[in-house]
Amino acid sequence: MIDEVKERALSELSLINDAKELEAWRVRYLGRKGEVSKIMKMLPNLPVDERREVGRKANELKEILEEKFEEKRREIRKPKFEPIDITLPGRPPLLGRLHPTTKILREICEVFASMGFEIVEGPEVEWDYYNFEALNIPEDHPARDMWSTLWIDYEDPSGKTPMLLRTHTSPMQIRVMEKRKPPIRVIMPGKVYRYEATDATHESMFYQVEGLAVDEGITMADLKGTLYEFSRRLFGKERRVKFRCDYFPFVEPGVEVAIDCFICRGEGCRLCGGSGWIEILGAGMVHPEVLRRVGYDPEVYTGFAFGMGIERIPMLRYGIDDIRLFYSNDIRFLRQMR
Ligand code: FA5
Repeated sequence: MIDEVKERALSELSLINDAKELEAWRVRYLGRKGEVSKIMKMLPNLPVDERREVGRKANELKEILEEKFEEKRREIRKPKFEPIDITLPGRPPLLGRLHPTTKILREICEVFASMGFEIVEGPEVEWDYYNFEALNIPEDHPARDMWSTLWIDYEDPSGKTPMLLRTHTSPMQIRVMEKRKPPIRVIMPGKVYRYEATDATHESMFYQVEGLAVDEGITMADLKGTLYEFSRRLFGKERRVKFRCDYFPFVEPGVEVAIDCFICRGEGCRLCGGSGWIEILGAGMVHPEVLRRVGYDPEVYTGFAFGMGIERIPMLRYGIDDIRLFYSNDIRFLRQMR
């Protein structure tokens, strides 16, 4: 019977959470006419040998119930809200920041803007005509293999050429020249897409900045001067810049520009593929055929063009050894960029 009272009392107590109910509980179990008192009053009627044992258990019950009652009373009295400590320093709100690509893109645009270049943007979904054909790369030209292409399954009712995700920003050269007359000095930043496997220096989606200058009397010296100045401004005077011959169907002559590898400083390592140099852009003098196609007379006008990979620039600058870090949404990487 004592055990049964104890069990009932404790289970009722566990459900109580206000002072009024607690007082009623106290009266019911610990009051003058309560359950514990009733047990105490029964004691004299018990046989002597049972009396001692039951008495001890009844006292134990009383102690436990009193103790639990006090505990509950303290719990109920405790304020519902923790007092506010106004001297604690506040929690700073989490602020977002610019993506490293956006930051570097803005910086590049500023450098070229200060040299008199205007910024122009264009479509990422492009016609075959602008991405290849008008750039002197006809349908069966082997140079198409230089850009593994993601084609878009769409047939234009007007019978235009196939659609694709632009593989470089060079189609913007044609779009700008079609609309304007020289002199032209523009840079054209944006996303490009390639159907290729990724590695430490290759992504399937990345950014490029295209540059184009067309006027009377523009020479290779203007191209070299512009790109040397750009490299000095972005990487510092101590970095080495190298021009090498390269082939692109829309320029003649064509070059590629590389910067000495930031990890091995020219010795050769995994990042630079053992060459000691990291290629950042392709460039050259605009091909006369391309000028003719947009209605410019190549005997009067000449021009230079370049196309650079954006992610490789912060990689060279900050020693980032894998391009895939840029677009894997790892906040630990993105947070490091101030
Ligand atoms: C081109 O895309 C030409 N349109 C460049 C050009 C423009 C040449 C104007 C002449 C005149 P290329 O495929 O080499 O060329 O790419 C140019 C730059 O983009 C490379 O130097 C490199 O920095 C970057 N790049 C190329 N492929 C990738 C890739 N998969 N991931 C990241 N960056 C890349």
